[in-house]
Amino acid sequence: MASVPALSTKVEQQLADALSAALPEAGAADPLLRRSDRADFQANGMLALAKKLKGNPRELATKVVEALGSPAEIADVEVSGPGFLNITVSDKAITETLAARAADDRLGVPLKEKPGLTVIDYAQPNVAKEMHVGHLRSAVIGDALRGMLDFTGEKTIGRHHIGDWGTQFGMLIQYLIENPGELAPADQVDGEQAMSNLNRVYKASRAVFDADEEFQDRARKRVVALQSGDKETLDLWQQFVDESKVYFHSVFAKLDMEVRDDEIVGESAYNDMMAETARLLEEAGVAVRSEGALVVFFDEIRGQDGEPTPLIVQKTDGGFGYAASDLSAIRNRVFDLKASTLLYVVDVRQSLHFRMVFEAARRAGWLTDAVTAHNMAYGTVLGADGKPFKTREGVSVRLEDLLDEAVQRAAEVVRDKARDLTEDEIQAQAVQVGIGAVKYADLSTSPNRDYRFDLDQMVSLNGDTSVYLQYAYARIQSILRKAGETGPAAHPELELAPAERALGLHLDAFGATLFEAAAEYAPHKLAAYLYQLASLYTTFYDQCPVLKADTPAQVENRLFLCALTARTLHQGMALLGIRTPERL
Ligand code: ARG
Repeated sequence: MASVPALSTKVEQQLADALSAALPEAGAADPLLRRSDRADFQANGMLALAKKLKGNPRELATKVVEALGSPAEIADVEVSGPGFLNITVSDKAITETLAARAADDRLGVPLKEKPGLTVIDYAQPNVAKEMHVGHLRSAVIGDALRGMLDFTGEKTIGRHHIGDWGTQFGMLIQYLIENPGELAPADQVDGEQAMSNLNRVYKASRAVFDADEEFQDRARKRVVALQSGDKETLDLWQQFVDESKVYFHSVFAKLDMEVRDDEIVGESAYNDMMAETARLLEEAGVAVRSEGALVVFFDEIRGQDGEPTPLIVQKTDGGFGYAASDLSAIRNRVFDLKASTLLYVVDVRQSLHFRMVFEAARRAGWLTDAVTAHNMAYGTVLGADGKPFKTREGVSVRLEDLLDEAVQRAAEVVRDKARDLTEDEIQAQAVQVGIGAVKYADLSTSPNRDYRFDLDQMVSLNGDTSVYLQYAYARIQSILRKAGETGPAAHPELELAPAERALGLHLDAFGATLFEAAAEYAPHKLAAYLYQLASLYTTFYDQCPVLKADTPAQVENRLFLCALTARTLHQGMALLGIRTPERL
C-alpha cells in the first residue's frame, strides 16, 4: 500500500516553497491552486498576499516564478492578468503519477493519519410499520457516508436506532394477548408475509383501541408492564420486533445493503439507562420538574406562542420517550463505545429534536469539545410533480413497490440496449441498474435539499444518472476485452492529447475529492466527481482512438487510461453502494 500524492499537491507545495523564498515575511502562505481552463492550474494566492503586504502582485508573481526554478513536474508557468500564475504540468508527470496510482490497490489514496471513531446512526425504520420513501434516504445516505468514511481509514460503528419502544406497543401486545396466534412465528415467514401480518395486527388493534375504552385501559397497563420488564409482555414484544426484522432485512437486501444484526440497536436497548439518565440530568440541574414532567429548557428555543419549548425527558406518567432514549444513547456511544464523532442521518424535520438533545448532553458534560455531534439532516423526497410523495389514494408510497418499479424500468432500458445478453442476464443487470439509479438520484443531490423521485429521469441513459456511469464502466470493460493480448501499460515518454490530459488530471484528483466529500459528509461531491469522470472519459473516447491508435505504445497507454478510469469508477461507485456490472 503506497499513498501517491496528487500532482496538484506537489505543485502546490513547490509554489508554497517558492512563495516563502520570494517573500520570507509572508510566512507559510497558501498559493491557492485551482484547476483552470487556461492552463492545468491557476494560482491566485499572490493577489491577496501582495495586497496585504502592500506590494505589487505581478512583481510578486514574477519573483515566485524565479524562485520556483524548473521542477520536473512543471512544463510551463506564466504570469498572467493582475498577478495569477498559469501552470501547465508535464505529460510525463501525469502519466507517471497515474502509473503509481495504478500500482496501488487503493489507487494511491492515503489513509487518515489520525482516524477517529464515528458512530453513525442511520437506516432506522420503526417496528410494526411499513418502510416508506423517507426511510430510503437515511439508509442510502448513511450507507454511502459509511463507505466513504471507512475508505479514508476512519473507524465506524453503525447504529440502527429503530423505533421499537413506546406506548403503541401496549396496544399491539394487548391485542395479541386477546387474539393469540395472529402473528406467525418470525422464522416461518418471509419479509412480505411478515409485513402483511404486522399490518393486519396493527390495523385490527387500532380499530379495537379506538372503539373500546376498556381496551384502552388494558393497553395502557400493558405499557407499564412492558417498561417494568414483565416476562410475558416482553416475549410478545420480542415477537413484534423479530417479525419486523425479517421485513427490514428483506428491504435492505433489496436495497443491496448490508445491515448487521448486532448494529440494530433500537430505542428499547437504552431502556435500562433511562431512569439513570433522568436522575443525572436532574441532579446536575440540567433538567427540572415542570407540571409533573422532567424537562430541559432552552432560552433560544421557543414555540409559536413565544413560550419556551422544553425537551421532555420524562413524562408526567413517569414514562420515558424518544428524548430519553437518544440522551441515553449518547452516553452509551461516548462513554462505552468511545466515539469521537456522533453522526445522525435523520430527516430535517427532527433537527430541532437533535439540537435540544445535543445541547442537553453538552450541559450535562456528556458531549465535550472532544466529541463532535452532527445531524446530517436530509430533505424530503417529493414526487415527480414536485409535491409530497404520495400514491393517488394519498398514502405514503411503500418503499418496496418503488424499488420493484425501478428494477422493472431498468429492465426495459437494459433490454433495449442489450445485444448479446440472455433474459436472465438482463434481469440480473436490471437489479443493479434499477437499485443503483434510485441510490444515485438520492446521493447526487445535496442531502439537505429536497429531491424529486422521478423514475423516468433516474433510469435515463443521458445526463447525471448512475446508468450513464454504469454504461461508461461497461464500455471500458468491453474495450479491455477486445484488446485481447494487448494489455494496458503506462508510457510516460508519450505526449498526451488534451482529452487525455484532462482525464488524467481528473483521475489524479480522486483521493482529494474523496477526503473532502467524507469530511463534509457530502456524498454528492463524490457523485459529481464520478459523473465528471465519465464525461471526461466520453470526450477522450470520442477524440482518441484506443485500439486503433497510431503506435503500439499509444494503444497500451490509452488502454492504461481506460483501465484506471474503470477502476476509479468502480471504486467510487462501490463507496456509494452502487454496483458496476461488467457487461451492459
Ligand atoms: N425511527 C425514527 C423515525 O423513523 C428515526 C430514528 C433516528 N435516530 C435517532 N437516534 N433518533 O423517525
